[in-house]
Amino acid sequence: MIQAIWKTCMTAAFVAVTMGLSGVPLFAADEAAESKEAAPAPEPGAEPEKPRVDVRKLFAMNCSWCHDGYGLHAGKGPKLVGTKLNEKQLYERIAKGKSGYMPGFEKTLKKEQIDAFVEYIKGLKETDS
Ligand code: HEC
Repeated sequence: MIQAIWKTCMTAAFVAVTMGLSGVPLFAADEAAESKEAAPAPEPGAEPEKPRVDVRKLFAMNCSWCHDGYGLHAGKGPKLVGTKLNEKQLYERIAKGKSGYMPGFEKTLKKEQIDAFVEYIKGLKETDS
C-alpha cells in the first residue's frame, strides 16, 4: 500500500520534472524569437520625427551674425520675435533682403528652407527669451 502511494508520487514528480524541463527551453526560444522580431520595428512615436529643415542650424549659419539669440534679441538687425510682417512679407524679406540692410537669401536657401524660417519666426514667443 505504502509502496503504491510512493510509486504514484514518484510518477507525478517525474512527469512534473519532464514537463518543466521540456517547457523551459521551448519558452526561452519563443521569447528570443519574439524580441528579435520586435527589434526592427520601433514603437510608433517613440522617436520624435526629425524635422525636414534644421532651422536653428540654418539660423546660426545665415542669420545669427545680425539677428541675435536666434531672433529673440536685437543685434545688427532687429529682433524677429513679435514681427509685424505677415507670412508673405517675411518670405519676401528673407528671399529678397532689404537693400543696404540685409542680404537676400533666395540664392543660398531653398524655398522649403525659407518657408521653415517663416514658420519658425512666426512661432517665436517673447517669453522664450
Ligand atoms: C547683414 C545682416 C543681416 C543678416 C545676415 C540677416 N539679416 Fe535680417 N535684417 C537685418 C536688418 C538690418 C534688418 C532690419 C531692416 C529694416 O530696417 O527694415 C533685418 C530685418 C529682418 C526681418 C524683418 C523684421 C521685421 O519685423 O521687420 C526679418 C524677418 C529678417 N531680417 C530675417 C532674417 C533671416 C531669417 C535671416 C537669415 C536667413 C536674416 N534676416 C539675415 C540684417 C540682417
